[in-house]
Amino acid sequence: MGISKKNIIIANLKMGLSSKKEAESWAEMFLREKKFFPKNTFLVICPPAIFLDFFIQKIGKNDWLKFGAQDCFWENKGSFTGETSPEMIKSLDGNFVILGHSERRRNWDESNEKISKKIPASLKTNLHPILCVGETAEEKKHDQTMEVLTSQLDECLLNVSRGKIEDVIICYEPVWAISSNHPTRKPSVNEIMGAKLLIKKFLCEKYGVKAMDKVKIIYGGSVDEKNAEIVCLSPDVDGALVGKASLAPRNLLKICEIIDKR
Ligand code: PGA
Repeated sequence: MGISKKNIIIANLKMGLSSKKEAESWAEMFLREKKFFPKNTFLVICPPAIFLDFFIQKIGKNDWLKFGAQDCFWENKGSFTGETSPEMIKSLDGNFVILGHSERRRNWDESNEKISKKIPASLKTNLHPILCVGETAEEKKHDQTMEVLTSQLDECLLNVSRGKIEDVIICYEPVWAISSNHPTRKPSVNEIMGAKLLIKKFLCEKYGVKAMDKVKIIYGGSVDEKNAEIVCLSPDVDGALVGKASLAPRNLLKICEIIDKR
């Protein structure tokens, strides 16, 4: 599969649209504001799974606009009440799936082991997994960032082969920097670059330098149209995972525009 564009922006709408009506008005607003067409950037919209079909039908995919889900299960069929399978996402024409988001880790006991099953299941179905890794405030306070990131990468990517790693996107998202966790500050460019280097080193050691160069590494945590330039213009950050700011289509498109200019 591979990711053919230079940059990637993931809009994680979370559970921010509480009804079909709200989903409709988000989509309408997005279509109205969509006057700019990025050349070097994929925008991936990840609505709640229940609205995925509606979003794809209403907004439509094209060479820079793609869609995805916010989680999936590792089986494609069976007695798994409430779950969404990779095949279901693919059958609606989704191409991406966010996995291991800290909200799922915290509220639904999403372990590295579970994520390590979901990633190959998604890849097998030709979905691009977006693996979220990042330390909590407590872990940061105890200087455990490097340790946490290494074990998340090691354990979550356990079943991903050299031939498949370039289809995975890795998002460094410090849990303490996510807007709903009320961050008192944003990570510095040095902190983001430190994490990025660690991820690159891990990829290089496990998969070799060629594969390392192909994997997209993005940043998430309170990215908005005001700070996107600083966060994402740092060399080597391939884009962003945007939560709260993506609830306003105009701001989301502005972020794309900023990233696309680099
Ligand atoms: P935020 O969310 O942009 O609102 O901080 C990002 C995320 O949690 O994916």
